[in-house]
Amino acid sequence: MDKGHTLPQDFGEFLHCMRMRSKFTIFLVFVVALVIIEKENNIISRVSDKLKQSPLSLTEANSTDPSLALSENGSLMSLSELDSAFSQLKKRLQNVTLQLGRTREPLLAPAKGTRKHVLLMATTRTGSSFVGEFFNQQGNIFYLFEPLWHIERTVSFEPGGANAVGSALVYRDVLKQLFLCDLYILENFIIPLPEDHLTQFMFRRGSSRSLCEEPVCTPFVKKVFEKYHCKNRRCGPLNVTLAAEACLRKDHMALKAVRIRQLEFLRPLVEDPRLDMRIIQLVRDPRAVLASRMVAFSGKYETWKKWATEGAATISDDEVQRLRGNCESIRLSAELGLRQPAWLQGRYMLVRYEDIARSPLRKAKEMYKFTGIAITPQVEEWIQKNTQAPQDSNGIYSTQKNSSEQFEKWRFSIPFKLAQVVQNVCSPAMNLFGYKLASSPEILTNRSISLLEERRTFRVT
Ligand SMILES: *[C@@H]1O[C@H](CO)[C@@H](O)[C@H](O)[C@H]1NC(C)=O
Ligand SMILES: *[C@@H]1O[C@H](CO)[C@@H](O)[C@H](O)[C@H]1NC(C)=O
Ligand SMILES: *[C@@H]1O[C@H](CO)[C@@H](O)[C@H](O)[C@H]1NC(C)=O
Ligand SMILES: *[C@@H]1O[C@H](CO)[C@@H](O)[C@H](O)[C@H]1NC(C)=O
Ligand SMILES: *[C@@H]1O[C@H](CO)[C@@H](O)[C@H](O)[C@H]1NC(C)=O
Ligand SMILES: *[C@@H]1O[C@H](CO)[C@@H](O)[C@H](O)[C@H]1NC(C)=O
Repeated sequence: MDKGHTLPQDFGEFLHCMRMRSKFTIFLVFVVALVIIEKENNIISRVSDKLKQSPLSLTEANSTDPSLALSENGSLMSLSELDSAFSQLKKRLQNVTLQLGRTREPLLAPAKGTRKHVLLMATTRTGSSFVGEFFNQQGNIFYLFEPLWHIERTVSFEPGGANAVGSALVYRDVLKQLFLCDLYILENFIIPLPEDHLTQFMFRRGSSRSLCEEPVCTPFVKKVFEKYHCKNRRCGPLNVTLAAEACLRKDHMALKAVRIRQLEFLRPLVEDPRLDMRIIQLVRDPRAVLASRMVAFSGKYETWKKWATEGAATISDDEVQRLRGNCESIRLSAELGLRQPAWLQGRYMLVRYEDIARSPLRKAKEMYKFTGIAITPQVEEWIQKNTQAPQDSNGIYSTQKNSSEQFEKWRFSIPFKLAQVVQNVCSPAMNLFGYKLASSPEILTNRSISLLEERRTFRVT
């Protein structure tokens, strides 16, 4: 993912940056507190309840999230710090929020009974951009591509155990406002801060058709630096008000997020009668994900590469724990979803990327059926165009062969040693999703041996 880091040219600039940064941090802590307090006044007590749970649940928490994999007393310490920080902020800010509440008009989606809100919940390198297009291409859906990127970029909780809990709450509350078309909530997290509700810095604006069509695409007047611009046309800076209005006009809303780790945190959204939520969790073979991440974020995976090829450096335990944490949080979310507790009934669907790669149109239809939204010819056309290889001279589409080659490419790019690490650490998740373990390098690279179990349904044991 585009991180857009720039290195300061000299020390003076560096200091300036640091000063700006700390100002922002203070501001953002404030904003975050506002977000939380404004949306749910009782959240603090709920957080406290969560944090004061028994040590046992903390141990559970550490298995679901890598950033909680600290020494047990370390986690406890930072969690209680967060707790007290929250209560202090609450006291200080309640008055401010009361005043804010009066001036800010709530922007609520009209209570159209049929409006659906779809969350595509994934992790990086699982094909979520591709699958997100299935919804982006439907003209009646207001689709946002990874809006939580802005929050991750600007909000940095102190590192440590509280990080995951704190950010999950912020993500959740921002998500809720976005589903309600309150796009203004994002302005607090966009850097530089938008003025007059205008911004050139909406992350991957061009990946949202709704942000690039009339009337949200305002006439292009003067050339300004626009980091994320529309693909097929030039537009003026994004007017957030226009975007919010467009969001309200569309029949449905969908967004993709790779930053939601735990399904259970979404319960208040799922139970919000205004939202009529549908959650699609997208998973992919963790060996393929690692192979893909090593290419996409190669800097981060230097030690893995060295370890696999030279045997010199060792993979730190931290990194293995992080991998385990990723797999486990995906598995735990999926298990919760598959168990279909009453609050999730009919609202959760698990999809494997591999199944989509092999039969994109069929899976798209299934997903649309699940959401209760009608698939349109444009969506079908887009899928045809983007998944099929050009017609060959025999007039036969080579889709099947081609896409299966595509989705299994990782088998030849990942060293067996690394595949083994993933298998050791992620086998519970792999078992659940039907990804077969490869017991030797020969099996890993033997195309005639499938590493994918054919599954129509998934069983929680
Ligand atoms: C939690 O983390 C500690 C320390 O890293 C580890 O010893 C323990 O096994 C973990 N618990 C679970 C359930 O994974
Ligand atoms: C708690 O952690 C600190 C360092 O993080 C360590 O020095 C201390 O011994 C630990 N205390 C207990 C009771 O484990
Ligand atoms: C809240 O703000 C108002 C207006 O600024 C002020 O008069 C009042 O004393 C404040 N209340 C508290 C409890 O701080
Ligand atoms: C943004 O759009 C709104 C709604 O049409 C309009 O009232 C406002 O003037 C626009 N803002 C700017 C800066 O053009
Ligand atoms: C697979 O499809 C892509 C795009 O449709 C094409 O560029 C590529 O050459 C195809 N590969 C094979 C092996 O047919
Ligand atoms: C690949 O697996 C098939 C089926 O098990 C086997 O017949 C074949 O010999 C294997 N190929 C290689 C190159 O090992």
